[in-house]
Amino acid sequence: MFSMAHNTGETMKQKIAILCSGGDVSGMNPALKRFVEYAHARGIEPYFIHHGFEGLIDNNITPASYADVTGIITRGGTKIGSARSKRFLENYYREIAAKNLKALGISMLIVLGGDGSFRGMERFYAEQGIAFCGIPSTIDNDINGTDYCLGVDTALGVIKGSIDQIRDTASSFRRAFVIETMGRNCGYLALISAMTSGAELCLIPEIPVNLHEYKGCFQSQISKGRDYFIAIVSEALQNTHEISQWFEKELGFESRISVLGHIQRGGNPSVYDRLMAYRFVTYAIDALLEGKTHSVICYTKSHFTFKTIDEVALHPYRIDEELLNLGREQFAPSHCQM
Ligand code: F6P
Repeated sequence: MFSMAHNTGETMKQKIAILCSGGDVSGMNPALKRFVEYAHARGIEPYFIHHGFEGLIDNNITPASYADVTGIITRGGTKIGSARSKRFLENYYREIAAKNLKALGISMLIVLGGDGSFRGMERFYAEQGIAFCGIPSTIDNDINGTDYCLGVDTALGVIKGSIDQIRDTASSFRRAFVIETMGRNCGYLALISAMTSGAELCLIPEIPVNLHEYKGCFQSQISKGRDYFIAIVSEALQNTHEISQWFEKELGFESRISVLGHIQRGGNPSVYDRLMAYRFVTYAIDALLEGKTHSVICYTKSHFTFKTIDEVALHPYRIDEELLNLGREQFAPSHCQM
């Protein structure tokens, strides 16, 4: 197990490092800024690990200063880079990673990432005794045990802006737009976006629908003058083209596809994500200094709680049932206004 074995007679400052793993989110840079400032405020030395677990293995670890985080609060992405590391899955590379940290005297880690990264860290803790706290960070909002993951609000804002702009051209051209959002296997981004953008259709894995049940209603709407449709589809369904063809073949309505793609991961972090970054990091540093060794900080029912890796990683995420019910109701074919 790791211990602070530097007996020089002086009091050694404790050292803490932060890394970003997996898909970057807008909110990581505000988190890095708070990390540096709050670590100094608590009398501990902050370090950056660049490019996720890859940088940990390659010893790409540098002391973090105020100057490093000046001006980054407004920027999406992450100043220290991120990566999806296959090597960290191997014991051999985890041992190298541990040696790198121990050589620098770093005993605590904050990991901004998803449940896969937290699982890796749990193993690392069990093998090497490096304490860590995970901060759920993914635009997909698909981590079990937390209602909110850093970056989701900014991503939803980007999607909202894109849909609003697509609506301008859709209404000018008499077209159906099938707009695909990210989310990996989870329909959260598509559901919230459809509910809040006045879309006609919301297609996500959590709410299965039969497109043909909308046909009569949509035909009636067209006959009464409707001249565009907006359909929001989660990438999880992998049927965006099929839906677009359905509009063309079944409704005779010209259709276009807009895959929003990686623009959803970028952009100026929203106020909410800046605030959540601030709060997540503050609680994570406090927890590590209080001796919490291997937890994930979750935000549930408006409160921060610490959960074990098993609580967040053993079970798949499910969208809140109340939200799903609202979505089911709003987009039910039987509620379609003729
Ligand atoms: O997990 C975040 C995410 O943006 C998913 O929504 C998406 O499916 C995936 O990452 C894209 O991954 P990449 O950036 O490797 O193409």
